[in-house]
Amino acid sequence: MHFLHPKRRYFCIKHQIDNNNNKMRFAFEFLVSVYCFFGMLSIGSGQDFGYEGTVGPNFWGEKYHHCIGKHQSPINIEEHNVEMVKLFPMQFENFDFVPEEAVIKNNGHTVIVTINSTKMPLISGGPLLGKYQFAQLHFHWGSDDSEGSENKINNSSYPMELHMVFFQRAYGTIQDAIDHPDGLTVLSFLYSNAEVENSNYNAITEVLPDIEEANTSLTMTNMPTFDQMLMKNRSIYFTYGGSLTTPPCSEVVTWIEFKNTIPLAHSQVIFI
Ligand SMILES: *[C@@H]1O[C@H](CO)[C@@H](O)[C@H](O)[C@H]1NC(C)=O
Ligand SMILES: *[C@@H]1O[C@H](CO)[C@@H](O)[C@H](O)[C@H]1NC(C)=O
Ligand SMILES: *[C@@H]1O[C@H](CO)[C@@H](O)[C@H](O)[C@H]1NC(C)=O
Ligand SMILES: *[C@@H]1O[C@H](CO)[C@@H](O)[C@H](O)[C@H]1NC(C)=O
Ligand SMILES: *[C@@H]1O[C@H](CO)[C@@H](O)[C@H](O)[C@H]1NC(C)=O
Ligand SMILES: [Zn+2]
Repeated sequence: MHFLHPKRRYFCIKHQIDNNNNKMRFAFEFLVSVYCFFGMLSIGSGQDFGYEGTVGPNFWGEKYHHCIGKHQSPINIEEHNVEMVKLFPMQFENFDFVPEEAVIKNNGHTVIVTINSTKMPLISGGPLLGKYQFAQLHFHWGSDDSEGSENKINNSSYPMELHMVFFQRAYGTIQDAIDHPDGLTVLSFLYSNAEVENSNYNAITEVLPDIEEANTSLTMTNMPTFDQMLMKNRSIYFTYGGSLTTPPCSEVVTWIEFKNTIPLAHSQVIFI
């Protein structure tokens, strides 16, 4: 497949435990918390950002996500540097619901999935205040298993990484949400190599040859549920805020990176 590989620049990432910023709350569930302050990145001229068509608000989540620095500055989570806190359990609503319609697109950088559903996936709890509604998901992978993931844990890379982007539902739409510091949340999942194929991914891998060309998309009616795509045990994760200072990237995103991985066969990773 002909995708551009995201830039991989590991720079100016500072991990800090900042007790003053620690919004610790009484909770029942463990989580590991990294307070990470992202360095600033310019995304260049910003002319690819607009209000209509393929650069319009419906694509801002993607743009925004790109410009918050994840693609340019993935982080390495050093587990011994993180602070363990307990929060309320995270709630995953409608993760068991098959979306009526899903559009899968090769945007030239990644494979991105948006859905139309009468029961949109929602998340709340954990480090989040309020409910966040699903906007899109996409994948990061590399040229081989040793460098696929954007993020690392203990200096270790993973074959692939899934990002599910959500926006604060109280703000109504993703384009309104990105004007607020708590506007977006990204759930980040790492994949690990498994001996057997993960059949829950068949519906996705089967359509990939049909969107091999950049900017092609198609509609899926057999999208797996989010529960099927993910691992059951999501109780331990790393969370941190990513912030940038230059418009249009000045928002703060809550990143939630799960410790447990999703098993996927080597053949499936390469295929995606
Ligand atoms: C990372 O290293 C720490 C020790 O520094 C260890 O406790 C932890 O289990 C490691 N995490 C992973 C995901 O390997
Ligand atoms: C969702 O439905 C609306 C209205 O039918 C349509 O305009 C839009 O393209 C659909 N989006 C997806 C992701 O299916
Ligand atoms: C990760 O790599 C850095 C730099 O080489 C090193 O200082 C650090 O101890 C490594 N961390 C782990 C958990 O191995
Ligand atoms: C894909 O679409 C974007 C935005 O319209 C455009 O900038 C880019 O050149 C297109 N890429 C290809 C390969 O057609
Ligand atoms: C969930 O995963 C964590 C981290 O691997 C582990 O410590 C915990 O025991 C698991 N919980 C269950 C119910 O399996
Ligand atoms: Zn991403």
